[in-house]
Amino acid sequence: MSQTHAHKTLQVSASRALGPLTPEEALLFEKLDLKRLPRHVAVIMDGNGRWAQQRHLPRVAGHRSGTSTARSTIETCARLKIEALTLYAFSVENWRRPKTEIDFLMQLLREYLRREMPLLQKNNIRMRFLGRTDELPRGVQDDVRDAMERTAGNQGMVLCVALNYGGRAEIVDAVNSILAEQKAHASRTGITEEMLARHMYTSGLPDPDLLIRTSGEMRVSNFLLWQIAYAEIFVTETLWPDFNRARLLEALVEFQKRERRYGGIREGQPVTENPARVVGE
Ligand code: FPP
Repeated sequence: MSQTHAHKTLQVSASRALGPLTPEEALLFEKLDLKRLPRHVAVIMDGNGRWAQQRHLPRVAGHRSGTSTARSTIETCARLKIEALTLYAFSVENWRRPKTEIDFLMQLLREYLRREMPLLQKNNIRMRFLGRTDELPRGVQDDVRDAMERTAGNQGMVLCVALNYGGRAEIVDAVNSILAEQKAHASRTGITEEMLARHMYTSGLPDPDLLIRTSGEMRVSNFLLWQIAYAEIFVTETLWPDFNRARLLEALVEFQKRERRYGGIREGQPVTENPARVVGE
């Protein structure tokens, strides 16, 4: 099979998996190279409150609408055969919000896990939760465990929901887990990067190649601090409830335009050209 033919076949089968595309989605999809998709996409789903405010609705209406966006993002990534998707649902800092909003978010998540289970199963998705889940309300903990157990045998995309998550807390937890392990084995060998990666909540997953943040803020907000060392960051003004499939495809197309160097130099560039540029890029 020629390369162009193989490319076309891949494109057609992926497009079938996505179902009917709008003209805008079809145009963006044409631009995508399915062999160079990110392995892991991480998303800071921001702007639910502003979306609601613009419509003179209570903030929680924005969160509810945000779950529909989560659904379409999860399904699209799974069908594009992206290995892992991580959604930032609740941070360790979010406990500072009004109790009514926190309760609503927890309830929404529980509802979501129950309602979406058939869709998760149909798409062969395995669920993981990143964060100090043992500090969540008892009912949420039960549903989280149940969702993990029910999807444990699935072989497709890993969907990570960051819940009571903090990037600094994760590093502290990883270090403490290494120390506990070393104590149990009566060894003290020092800490390596590989060891830390193995004790992170994301152990076994590739690091995110693409970090998407909706609603325009240029911040990392304590999200996956260790793992995003080399991620491409895509910030869009679009508010999370409006981040539809076309906007997601647009982020993937934009990702493919970036040149990833991991601190090295551009491929084919003479090594002597400007060594100073290498540092920190
Ligand atoms: C940020 O918007 C959003 C959140 C803190 C919650 C995100 C949660 C969901 C979309 C609910 C469901 C999650 C899953 C995984 C199903 P914001 O309230 O900070 O918006 P603002 O900055 O405009 O106020």
